[in-house]
Amino acid sequence: MTAAQFEKELAELEKFASDAFASAGDSQSLEDMRLEYLGQKGKLTLILRGLSGLDKSERPRIGQLANTVKEKIQVLHDQRKEALYREQLAERLKVDRLDVTLPALGRPLGHLHPLTLITEEIARIFYGMGFSVFEGPEVETDYYNFDALNTPASHPARDEQDTFYTNLGPQVLLRSQTSTAQIRYMEKKENKPPLRIIAPGRVYRNEEINARKYPLFHQVEGLLVDKEVTMGQLRATLAEFLRLLFGKPLRTRFRPDFFPFTEPSAELDSECPFCAGSGCRTCGHRGWLELLGCGMVDPNVLRAVDIDPEEWSGFAFGMGVERLAMIKYGV
Ligand code: DAH
Repeated sequence: MTAAQFEKELAELEKFASDAFASAGDSQSLEDMRLEYLGQKGKLTLILRGLSGLDKSERPRIGQLANTVKEKIQVLHDQRKEALYREQLAERLKVDRLDVTLPALGRPLGHLHPLTLITEEIARIFYGMGFSVFEGPEVETDYYNFDALNTPASHPARDEQDTFYTNLGPQVLLRSQTSTAQIRYMEKKENKPPLRIIAPGRVYRNEEINARKYPLFHQVEGLLVDKEVTMGQLRATLAEFLRLLFGKPLRTRFRPDFFPFTEPSAELDSECPFCAGSGCRTCGHRGWLELLGCGMVDPNVLRAVDIDPEEWSGFAFGMGVERLAMIKYGV
């Protein structure tokens, strides 16, 4: 064969191989064709065998050409192989829609209600100050809700218009405040002072339903009984509580108030955390927010549970959880 004949054969070989690969319908027939063209006994080898009959001066050039053609055929083969793989994969995916090897889709988890979150937070803060959590019943008697809390029979809060009475008896009601827990806790003989508790829970009042009021809401009561307790300690405790709850120190102020079970009683205001006291919509442009009621435990309350007020004194406080949650979470 002459060099020109070699060139022609090699060019043809490339063309045939290219057509053959393109017509291969699956990887087995493609492999057969690869052997046919590139295998040890394949067509290219056959052509190369004749190389020895070629003039010495032409051999390197034709040899090189043969190598180039071999590489090109190899590339054509590889491309076809890749394409076939993709075709087959696409085909399989059409049938096998369900791929059990894929990682599972994340399921959205629920989250805790803001009232639950803040109640836990409040409990955590007071726990750090040595208070434990105590819970009383929601269905109560007027003794726990009023009498033992030094609330006179004529007190307006007892009015049916404010308190839900049940048909279980004239004294049975839904508690209107978590202050009931003070009595429930202290009347137990094993709970002797000194003592520190908070009591979170639902309370009920016969309110008209509107954007600010609902007949069911949540309070956290606090009670500390010890020797020579002072109002300064009450104030410092509450200020520290607010600092931890809102994550920054806030100015606080006491305003005199009245509650039957504390004497003296006060309302605690805090500087509005949203406007730092300069006045905004949340605080009604007052710069202050009313946060809770508090005071020094009335001696009559201690007497009702057989604790000697000459020996022991205490402070108490009660806060509305909805309001604190609104402030903390910006609801
Ligand atoms: N129980 C009161 C209320 O529901 C809140 C309260 C005020 C609780 C003063 C206290 C307190 O313990 O000392 O409005």
